[in-house]
Order: sequence, then C-alpha cells, then structure tokens
Amino acid sequence: MLFPDYRPRRMRQSAAFRKMVRETTLSVNDFILPLFVVEGKGVKNPIDAMPGNYRLSIDNLVKVAKQAYDMGIPAIILFGIPSKKDPLGTQAYAKDGIIQRAVKTVKSKLPELMVITDVCLCEYTDHGHCGFLDGHTVDNDATLDLLARTALSHAKAGADMVAPSDMMDGRVAEIRSILDENEFTRIPIMSYAAKYCSAYYGPFREAAQSAPTFGDRKTYQMDPANAQEAIREATMDVEEGADIIMVKPALAYLDIICRIRDEVDLPVAAYNVSGEFSMIKAAEKMGWIDGRKVMMETLTAIKRAGADMILTYFAMEAAALINE
Ligand code: PBG
Ligand code: ZN
Repeated sequence: MLFPDYRPRRMRQSAAFRKMVRETTLSVNDFILPLFVVEGKGVKNPIDAMPGNYRLSIDNLVKVAKQAYDMGIPAIILFGIPSKKDPLGTQAYAKDGIIQRAVKTVKSKLPELMVITDVCLCEYTDHGHCGFLDGHTVDNDATLDLLARTALSHAKAGADMVAPSDMMDGRVAEIRSILDENEFTRIPIMSYAAKYCSAYYGPFREAAQSAPTFGDRKTYQMDPANAQEAIREATMDVEEGADIIMVKPALAYLDIICRIRDEVDLPVAAYNVSGEFSMIKAAEKMGWIDGRKVMMETLTAIKRAGADMILTYFAMEAAALINE
C-alpha cells in the first residue's frame, strides 16, 4: 500500500470517517475516582496542588461519591488520613479507623458503587514509610502481617476490592490467604504490581500527609529505569493470586502498560497519578495548554497503551465531557 494508490488522509476527511476508524474510545466505565477521607464533619479541605480535589469528612465523601455514581463512574478508591499516627500504623487496621468507617457508610448509602481501598501503611505511620521499621530499614516480612490485617479490616468493613500499594514482596499471597481464611474468597485484589519510585507522587503526599520523614522509598518501590523487572513483578503477583495488575504512574510508563498488557492475562489498571494531574492543571492555569483537551488526550493514550481501567483524579471532569 503505497502512495498514490493508498492515501491515509482519505479516512480522516470528516468527523464521521474518523469516528468509524477510531481504535480507542474512552468510556465512563473505564474510570476509578480516588478520594481522600479525613476525620470530622462538614470538612471539605481543598488540596492546593490538585484543584477540584479535597480532603473530605465522611458526610461530604458520601456526597462526592454519589455525584460520581450518578455520572456513571463505577468505582472509587479511598485513601484515609487518620488523626493519630504511630510507628506501627495501627489506625490502618483499626476496626473503627477512618477508612473502615468511611467504607461502611458509603456502602450503606450507595451499595451499587464499587468501593476499593488502598492498602498501605504510609498514611498511618508517624515515620511515613510503607512498612514496619527496624532501625532505618523497612522490614519486609514483619510488614506482611500488618498489611494482611489492614486488608482484612477493609473487607470486614464492606470494601468490594483491596488494592495493596506498599510494594513489599509476598504481600499479595499473604492478603489472599488471610481473606480466604476469613471467608472473603469473593474479594478481589488489585495489586499495584509495577509501582515505581516516582517524583510524580508529590502532590498526593502533600494531600495525604504521607511523605517519609527520612530517606525515600527506593528500597521498596521500583527503579524508573527498569522495564523487565516490571514483568517479573507482575508475573509474581499473578502467581500469588492477584485479580488485577496495576501500573503506576501511567504517563511516563506507557511502555510498561503496553508490555504488561501483552504478557499478563489479567485486567490491567493504570494509575494516572497526582503529579500527572497537577502538571496539566498548572499549565492550564498559566494559559499554556487547553487543559480539557490535554486531559482527554492523556486518558485516551493510557487506554490505547493497554489499560482496561484508569485510576484518575480527572474521572468526574472526563465523565462530564463524555456524558455531554
Ligand atoms: C501509598 C500510595 C501513594 C500513592 C497511592 N498510594 C503514594 C506513595 O507511594 O508515596 C500515589 C498516588 C498519586 O500520586 O496520585 N503508598
Ligand atoms: Zn505507602
């Protein structure tokens, strides 16, 4: 097929043609909306670097969750910000912790909205690391039990799915077994399988007050330079019983999404993280880009790369455009 016999522009000549040959279409069904929940009542505390996102008390969380549900967004993922933090992150697995109460309330008011919980310790530990500290080292095996307890407490509160984001080795198997032993065989695990040690998480850490007080997360999150290792991580999580494999961040890692889509026979999720969101919002505010167009192009690219679902702070804005 060579010019002048074939002319690719023939299929681009009108909106109708372009629609007919379009390979990727975003749907509201693709989105998972991340939300932050705090103690208190009537709290709607704006997150400076993430315009349109708030730290919400449970009453306001229900309102936003209902808006998302009414727009057709199938799922939310919840992050808790506890009022007390300690070395063991005990509020992460407390029966009446902020997340456990939030899940219970949202599920009682909106039973058909899928509620996913992020399973990690960094928002709950006073040192801000994602696990149990032995001196300045995060002790992998000692952390597994705390993560498993956290996941179980979320399931007991009514979570529809748990999503471990800590990057400890062996956590998926540990969580699968504690869920199964407690008659939660129906609760799937969405594993943050290829989670990179990324500077794109900056605004999230400000929002969740979860930045480590010393050091960084390089001993547990992946090196951004590695791709082959992502396949190993994903393969291990499949064998440990994961139901969905996540790649995070999304935009600087589209190659990883694409390769995992090819090599793993499970649904693939991509996390369009806080920094990716903030950069678009900031450039839009400066008048340097058309924010809505860049948003749609970004989300389309993530889906085109192979993501079956996208965790994104743009979920409601993009849904509004799609539903227009
Ligand atoms: C917790 C967690 C983080 C994010 C999701 N879960 C932060 C981190 O690993 O430091 C980042 C999400 C985002 O930036 O939007 N481990
Ligand atoms: Zn963490």
